[in-house]
Amino acid sequence: MPDKNGFPHFMLKEIFEQPQALRDTIGPRISPENGEVGLADEVRISDDELRTLLRVNIVASGTSRHAGMAGQYMFQELVQLPVEVDYASEFEYRNPLIGGGELTIVITQSGETADTTAAQREAKKRGSRTVAISNVIGSTIAREADGVLYTHAGPEISIASTKAFTAQMAVLFLFAAYLAQIRDSVSKPVLRRWTKELLALPEKTEAVLQQAKQIQGLVERFYKFDDFLFLGRAIHYPIAMDGALKLKEVSYIHAEGYPTGESKHGPNALIDEYLPIVIIATCDRDDSGSVIRYEKNLANIRGFKQQAAKIIAIASEGDDAIESIADHTIFIPRAPEMLSPILEIVPLQLFAYYSAVRKGLDVDRPRNLVKSVTTE
Ligand code: F6R
Repeated sequence: MPDKNGFPHFMLKEIFEQPQALRDTIGPRISPENGEVGLADEVRISDDELRTLLRVNIVASGTSRHAGMAGQYMFQELVQLPVEVDYASEFEYRNPLIGGGELTIVITQSGETADTTAAQREAKKRGSRTVAISNVIGSTIAREADGVLYTHAGPEISIASTKAFTAQMAVLFLFAAYLAQIRDSVSKPVLRRWTKELLALPEKTEAVLQQAKQIQGLVERFYKFDDFLFLGRAIHYPIAMDGALKLKEVSYIHAEGYPTGESKHGPNALIDEYLPIVIIATCDRDDSGSVIRYEKNLANIRGFKQQAAKIIAIASEGDDAIESIADHTIFIPRAPEMLSPILEIVPLQLFAYYSAVRKGLDVDRPRNLVKSVTTE
């Protein structure tokens, strides 16, 4: 029987294991001498083939798909390859026009999700190469893939996926950096800076976890609300999606994840004092695109405040502007925009966890859910 190691629930234990999971997943794959990413033995597809790839498809379910959505931004930024992301459960229904010269990445913590293994078989049938990202050694998906990149998160017992998710995003970033190396799509000094930032994540995650008590206090003010809206732009949108998914699955509170800009195209009609908004509004000052998106987020928050909404913002350390307009601000350490999602999800996992505990629910085993969905 797995041990909770002094934690009241597996979910909390696994949230707190994230720094170690990231260390184990990232460290062994980066050369300490030159900062290069070494994945050749795991990817098992020749450099020549990787150099001529035309497109990447990412297929997964639930939280693993959210990691894939973040991966889309990473691949497009670092490798400049077009990436499509699909729900595994929908993949075969839309006649996916994939074939030779393409790579399909299937992501699944358990490696046994029926929709995802079926999608991998479909991709192979159509001539695509496949690489699986899985947390379980020797799982079905891993056995059937051309290459396998394991997340070294350790067994995940709680039904809600937490440490596997952050490890999946780290692996996707490593894979994107590896492809960028082979395809020369990013200069060596830039790649070195990326890998250095990646190696800094475990410690930054520890800093986020130190705010657990503050987040537990915040939950006291919010656990009675029936609905939440989670918002994020660009690579932060999948994090909004996953924050909402965590909240609904463990605390049974209705939550929607939406792209921030899309709120003007309908959801705004719902926004008032009864619909708290959790908005990801971090900023990478070294990235002009991130700064522009941040300014838009500030304007959005002002608008939501005029509609009497209560705002919980996830912001970058030291951001006084957000703190002065949001009702509550949770700070995360500064990181490049492509990597900050790995930090941003942590407070949202804690928010969902403490909400479920406050409501007296079975956090590790939410109703009607199983850890591994082995039927379609
Ligand atoms: C959410 C959650 C699920 C899984 C999904 C896919 O917290 O755990 O959405 O992510 O069922 O599972 P895997 O990754 O095992 O394929």
